[in-house]
Amino acid sequence: MGRRSAGEVRRMRTIIEPFRIKMTEPLKSTTREQRLAALQRAQHNVFLLDAEDCPIDLLTDSGTGAMSTAQWAALMLGDESYAGSKSWKKFEATVKLITGMPHVFPTHQGRAAESILALTRLQGHHIVPSNSHFDTTRANIEFTGARALDLLCAEGYDTALEAPFKGNIDLEQLERCLDTHGKERIPFCMITVTNNTGGGQPVAMANIRALKRLLQKYGVPLVIDACRFAENSYFIHEREAGYRNKTLLEIAQEMFSYADAATMSAKKDGLANIGGFFVCNDEHWAEDFRNALILREGFPTYGGLAGRDLEVIAVGLREALEYDYQVYRHATVEYLGKKLLQRDIPHVRPVGGHAVFLDARAMLPHLPPLQYPGIGLVNALYLEGGIRGVEIGSVMFGRFDEQGREQPAPLELVRLAFPRRVYTQSHFDYMVEVLQDVWAKRDQIPGYRIVYQPKFLRHFSCHFATV
Ligand SMILES: Cc1ncc(COP(=O)(O)O)c(C=O)c1O
Repeated sequence: MGRRSAGEVRRMRTIIEPFRIKMTEPLKSTTREQRLAALQRAQHNVFLLDAEDCPIDLLTDSGTGAMSTAQWAALMLGDESYAGSKSWKKFEATVKLITGMPHVFPTHQGRAAESILALTRLQGHHIVPSNSHFDTTRANIEFTGARALDLLCAEGYDTALEAPFKGNIDLEQLERCLDTHGKERIPFCMITVTNNTGGGQPVAMANIRALKRLLQKYGVPLVIDACRFAENSYFIHEREAGYRNKTLLEIAQEMFSYADAATMSAKKDGLANIGGFFVCNDEHWAEDFRNALILREGFPTYGGLAGRDLEVIAVGLREALEYDYQVYRHATVEYLGKKLLQRDIPHVRPVGGHAVFLDARAMLPHLPPLQYPGIGLVNALYLEGGIRGVEIGSVMFGRFDEQGREQPAPLELVRLAFPRRVYTQSHFDYMVEVLQDVWAKRDQIPGYRIVYQPKFLRHFSCHFATV
């Protein structure tokens, strides 16, 4: 896994996809009128569009990747025995190899791991700090009455600043929080690698190491949200001194060595279309998790997954740690970032590991935050060229204060997340064209208001109308 050195790959000027295509999936082209009608049917919420109407679907990198020949072959080996299957053994061995943790529990996806962790460990008076909680993590924590607290480093909020590890947690703020509340109110702290919410930005090994030291002082365990652990390992390899000669597996192993537990969505760096897991060191955490898992997901050796899914994830976790794969993956994201930079289109710098984040606030300064500039931009991208992105701003992360007044999120971003091994260079060139056209017409993009919203995770299903 990942033995190849950086020098060997970088000698070539063009970084090619380290695979060739064996199977194709047709893309439907649509007219502007059809896209407008589709948006109206979807109440201007792109989550409610039909996927076949989205030729360039960048809604998420989660579960949308293409499997390799090795994964398709492994699928056929799926052992569907209820308990102790051969597929489970392979899954368990791979997860243990990477994380070094003794207790491994498959779940049907990442949020199931988060939900059981929250239900088994949290109560209403608890606080869970993190660099930035992802939306499902936040919702699962808050569902128990506990508070999810984001303590991202200051650089992470400056969308134009070029800094290598903008996903780091602010250790000074965390120390103050630990001093004030102690382990009685902070049952664990989380760190999300890479930091999806803050722009797909990486976390430095030095930050994780210092975080662990600090938490140890207060007796507070560390839980890694490990969805993109392989992408984070690649960033550490490329950007942090002392890691050039390490494999991505060795880097990942060091990262997990500082943690007491981890939640994982295998739909990202498991290179699978479904799946997740929870791992931990502590016997009691494991016991509580196991009991709840059986109730909610399934027997602990399949935990909500089919044997064939366990096989696919066991292979995918290793493929995600292949150095050539990560070089190509990051080249695609950087390619789009470079084109945006050349055209002065505001976006989070440097680009993240799995996505380019457009800065909707800077792109659409005529729209106040509570007219949701991110939703304006998302609708414009779809209308212009059938590109489906996602707002990561005040709709997803806006809050209501004690008087019930809506407070905007600190950033108004639009995430263009790249499915793994799916789109080719010409798709990226097409995206650049569409972005350029939207940028040229930005003054005409309207604001939006919410006309229906559910109680939790409103961005998935709320309805919008133009202001
Ligand atoms: C950082 C992070 N944590 C947790 C999750 C939840 O994973 P899942 O979608 O598998 O439930 C996601 C999904 O996008 C994520 O990006």
